[in-house]
Amino acid sequence: MILKDQLNIENLPKHIAIIMDGNGRWAKQKGKLRVFGHENGTKSVREITEASAELGIENLTLYAFSTENWKRPKVEVQTLMRLLISSLKKEINTLQENNIKLNAIGNLEDLPKKVQRELMDVIEQTKNNSRMTLTLALSYGSRDELLNTIKQISTKVKNNIISPEKIDESVINEHLYTRNLPDVDLLIRTSGEQRISNFLLWQIAYAELFFTNILWPDFTKNNLYEAILCYQKRERRFGKTSEQLK
Ligand code: IPE
Ligand code: IPE
Ligand code: MG
Repeated sequence: MILKDQLNIENLPKHIAIIMDGNGRWAKQKGKLRVFGHENGTKSVREITEASAELGIENLTLYAFSTENWKRPKVEVQTLMRLLISSLKKEINTLQENNIKLNAIGNLEDLPKKVQRELMDVIEQTKNNSRMTLTLALSYGSRDELLNTIKQISTKVKNNIISPEKIDESVINEHLYTRNLPDVDLLIRTSGEQRISNFLLWQIAYAELFFTNILWPDFTKNNLYEAILCYQKRERRFGKTSEQLK
């Protein structure tokens, strides 16, 4: 039976987050420059975005550029920014055809002005789409996000807008970059690395983790179905006992 047909549509993760890793190694294996890997990585972005929307996944969040990635060689950073602009221009049609809303999280002011403009333009054009929200994590770092959250809440406390006793999990959620998104249900990382690399630390508190050796440019929709199938075989207990869930 084909993988997709084995999925239980009643038990899909509401929010899938992906650490898209391995572009550089993919290119190196082929004797090419890292840039070639990034270019091919954008094809996987399209395939996985379309497949997720088609399945009925409500939220897909892709880690595209971390706060730490600014430390990469200048030419690589420039190439990634250039690719981002061209992908946004090219994929606006894919987003509209599939009724997908674009969202972005991260320290967006650090992005080049041209990227910011293109990003805001696509976000604006797709704001009424409702099948799926595609969130790009750009210049994103979870510690940066938490710092920003703490600063905002402390300012409100100082100005008597909120009292410290009133700070609970929902107040924190409302101040994160991910304020409109539910917690992550399934976190996927490609390329064989088994680490979080400063991604959504608060939001993955109870996410199921799925690691695969496949490099991001080779990651196909069948690999996505495989990850979801694995997720569906797990029992999410959230601290309770198995018997309590029955
Ligand atoms: C992921 O692939 C893309 C970004 C982090 C922007 P990498 O560029 O990290 O590829 P590897 O890990 O070096 O193979
Ligand atoms: C994580 O990948 C960031 C993105 C996928 C955008 P990295 O390749 O930057 O992660 P580390 O440095 O190997 O942990
Ligand atoms: Mg990497």
